[in-house]
Amino acid sequence: MQTFFRSYTILLVIFLTSFINSQVPGPMAGKNGMVVSASELASQVGIDILKKGGNAVDASVAVGFALAVTYPAAGNIGGGGFMVLRLNDGTTTSIDYREKAPSSTHPDVYLNESGNPLPEKSAAGVTSAGVPGSVAGLIYALEKYGSMSLEEVIQPSIDLALNGFKLEYRLAGSFKSTLESFKKYESSFKIFSKNGEPFEAGDHFIQEDLGRTLGIIMQKGKDGFYKGEIAELIVKQMTELDGWITLDDLANYEPVEREPVFGAYRGYEIMSMGPPSAGGILLVQVLNILENLTFERKDWGSSSYIHNLTEALKYAYADRSKHIGDPDFHKVPKDKLISKDYAFEIFNRISDKAVPSELITPVDISSLNESEETTHYSVIDKFGNAVSTTTTINSGFGSKIVVDGAGFLLNNEMDDFSIQPGIPNQFGLTGGEANKVEPNKRMVSSMTPTIILKDGKPFLVVGSPGGSTIMTVVLQVVLNVLDFDMNIQRANDVFRIHHQWLPDRIDYEPFGLSEDVKNNLIDRGHNIGTERTLGRMDAIFVDQQNGVYYGATDKRGYGAAIGY
Ligand code: GLY
Repeated sequence: MQTFFRSYTILLVIFLTSFINSQVPGPMAGKNGMVVSASELASQVGIDILKKGGNAVDASVAVGFALAVTYPAAGNIGGGGFMVLRLNDGTTTSIDYREKAPSSTHPDVYLNESGNPLPEKSAAGVTSAGVPGSVAGLIYALEKYGSMSLEEVIQPSIDLALNGFKLEYRLAGSFKSTLESFKKYESSFKIFSKNGEPFEAGDHFIQEDLGRTLGIIMQKGKDGFYKGEIAELIVKQMTELDGWITLDDLANYEPVEREPVFGAYRGYEIMSMGPPSAGGILLVQVLNILENLTFERKDWGSSSYIHNLTEALKYAYADRSKHIGDPDFHKVPKDKLISKDYAFEIFNRISDKAVPSELITPVDISSLNESEETTHYSVIDKFGNAVSTTTTINSGFGSKIVVDGAGFLLNNEMDDFSIQPGIPNQFGLTGGEANKVEPNKRMVSSMTPTIILKDGKPFLVVGSPGGSTIMTVVLQVVLNVLDFDMNIQRANDVFRIHHQWLPDRIDYEPFGLSEDVKNNLIDRGHNIGTERTLGRMDAIFVDQQNGVYYGATDKRGYGAAIGY
């Protein structure tokens, strides 16, 4: 009888364990390709392109256009972005299609006559818009590294815009919650409301003007956006609302191909976006500092782990404030910032106690006032080409201004500049010379599209939205996989913290820090900050041994990983 109960108990434990394991959300698997984005419809567009024989660049360009239709809060043709590529022939590169300051701007453009900052001009309305880069960047990527025609990759987005699609609950909710802002601009209100009433989940959403604009881009390529009718509509909007973007600014916009930032961490190769993004340099810098420590499974989430992470972040963000700017205008000391020796110097300054942020660098504080609305997507194909892209119009729905007649939203990216070097801005932060407004300059970004290689082959494709929190989100997912051996979905799901040097506080996700851990951190001298959601990672993990791609969208959003 006793033996029976023992066997029964063992069977029950095995059954319950396998039941519980099956409840742990797993990533989506595919052997031939994987697309992970913030919108299921856009991911489907990308996977269809891969199935038709397109490569990861074709799919990424198609997803970029599709997100402008299906995820207008951040997907865009009126904003900018960065694409990091690792092709199967070993090519590594990145494409910078960040927005630029209009040519008539200058360092004092957001100051009033008394020299006081005008954040309402840099963060909202038509004066907050930089010259858009997305269309030029996507077309550049396609022509240089893709294999399909513009028509093949853009047609699915035109169909989505003209035929419409059913609004998902949260997408409809985001339109509704932004309705008051859209009301200020007739061109926006007519797109994002149903004859003046809020859209509801399940409503059919058609964007005729956007479909027509995409059609013109399909026929005329880059010139279809930067010259002719669409450029004239943008400038008309500028003239009507006192904006600054001119026909020349548009005609002169060019994306820039740049060498990515490279680093090494515990035998893995890191490649990420360099300036004008701060993301890649910060990621490599923090990983270099942390490489001097060893993490064990039991350390994850502990006060000592969070302490070390936080201290490393403070030094890196302090350096960001002073040293990162558009590399075409400002010499960024990249080699110093990502050197192992410099990381070791910082590591030696980290003790058991928190160093207050103002002691790390007392002056030259940068503007970190980026919004959380941006979007990232990751793509890999059956050939082994990997593409990591982050794109943004800055705030949710950017400037909230739809270009009348053209159907797309303009960014409010100018707010990523330091609007007044050396003087506190509306958020109590000050900015450095490196990131002051100058004509035709790119504003500093935090976007961190990243590819990690193992034995010279793609291993992780990662990135996230989240303004100044982007790098810390990417960092933690990378650590979760490389140091704690989590599967990519778990690495993405578990809670995150954030510290950006100033304000001097650890922000954390709901249920993220237990009272014990909080108290231990306070004992070490940390300030516990705000409870908030951090990032929306869309990631791919490559099981190199079995040749399987695993995709994980972030449960904090409503995207989709689709593989085949
Ligand atoms: N606007 C967000 C970023 O570029 O970091």
